[in-house]
Amino acid sequence: MPAQANFGVVGLGVMGANLALNFADHGARVAVWNLERDKQEKFLAEHPGFVDAKDIAGLVAALEKPRRILVMVTAGKAVDSVAEQLSAHLDKGDVIIDGGNSLYTDTRRRERALAEKGLRFVGMGVSGGEEGARRGPSLMPGGAREAYEHLKPLLEGVAAKTESGPCVTYCGPDGAGHFTKMVHNGIEYADMQLIAEAYDVLRRGIGLDNDAIADVFDRWNQGPLQSFLIEITAKIFRVRDRDTQKHLVDLVLDQAGQKGTGRWTVEAALELGVAIPSIAAALDARVISSQKDSRVAMARSFEDPPRGKVPAGEREARIAEVHDGLLAAKVCAYAQGMELIHAASQAYTWDIDRREIARIWKGGCIIRAKLLDTIMQAFGKQKEMRNLVADASLGGDVRKAAPQWRALVGRSMAEGIAMPAFAASLTWFDGVRSADLPQNLTQAQRDAFGAHTYVRRDNVKAGPVHSEWLK
Ligand code: 6PG
Repeated sequence: MPAQANFGVVGLGVMGANLALNFADHGARVAVWNLERDKQEKFLAEHPGFVDAKDIAGLVAALEKPRRILVMVTAGKAVDSVAEQLSAHLDKGDVIIDGGNSLYTDTRRRERALAEKGLRFVGMGVSGGEEGARRGPSLMPGGAREAYEHLKPLLEGVAAKTESGPCVTYCGPDGAGHFTKMVHNGIEYADMQLIAEAYDVLRRGIGLDNDAIADVFDRWNQGPLQSFLIEITAKIFRVRDRDTQKHLVDLVLDQAGQKGTGRWTVEAALELGVAIPSIAAALDARVISSQKDSRVAMARSFEDPPRGKVPAGEREARIAEVHDGLLAAKVCAYAQGMELIHAASQAYTWDIDRREIARIWKGGCIIRAKLLDTIMQAFGKQKEMRNLVADASLGGDVRKAAPQWRALVGRSMAEGIAMPAFAASLTWFDGVRSADLPQNLTQAQRDAFGAHTYVRRDNVKAGPVHSEWLK
């Protein structure tokens, strides 16, 4: 039987189904297979023109060689199971793409194991949610470069487009694509937490109602903060509950969920020795939010500090403070994520081009933002830059915002409004910009109690020395 399709999709959940439709829209002849047959029948009934594979062997048989199969199943064991079943039928040179949010260490393991069988495995981050998958996601593929070349025309077709091209690039070998996607999600956590904290100050600190907050976010979306997350935030504040006519956002329980990519980002940063406190603060904030019962009980014992009413005439100045602080803190969060990618790229010799990463994050993905234009330019000027805040333009934004940012964090601390991500970003900035830190004392203590040695400022060349501190 001649091959009827040139692209296969395994898994017809929301993301898999939308990507299958997107690939078909861009000229691919797509064969599909889903473990639960009824879901596949429903998909095929609603969308004629797809090749109906009855089982994995049928899917493989339907595809032109070298085959290309996108696996969109839940990250974890299901990916191993599908890869194993596929590999029993595939031929050397065929490509399996894992488009789920897989842990990059799993991707490294799978890539190695499948390469031994002559199969090529591409771990590909996909961002943009349902709508992105259907209309144009940001794609972060990693694996063997030849495998990417085989996929490139199709991936460029389905990816989101910006004036800087299609939002897809070859990230690097083995786990580079999934690592990049993981860090994207880490930045997403920080960005969302910063927006939540800004909302809290607008609401409790300045006293704005939901409609006024929606207007503020709409206004911010016209300037340097312009981004997908700010845009949807403005919309969220306008939505009313059908039954009660109340603002729906007020009816949402304040307990944030998480699926794990934010935690993985923090774990990877700890392992690679990169400080990402803005992202870690966002993770902690979700954890604390989830402890609702205990918070409610504690709130009975610890009242808020006194908080004055902001006079109407001062409101705009206070809103501007939040705007500037948000911009500066956001630069810090992106800088931390990019530093983490740099560290992983060096540790695993992935050679990730961060200018390209900024470029493919400009469209399709959840953290798409105007700021990424400046980030792209910054890496265009200095490819190996460790800390993005060192860039003249981004650093200029932070310098300009700093007085407002400091005033905001200081006041919020005094008023008892928790701003963990704003504050963590500010203290990170104050650390990385300081030529002199108090860790001379830390070293002295370590040497005093454990003879761990230290280096003398007045003779660095001499290397580690030890002193008797406690005699
Ligand atoms: C994306 C999103 C997507 C998903 C997150 C949510 O880029 O399209 O990041 O991957 O919505 O995994 O993560 P949490 O459930 O951990 O918030």
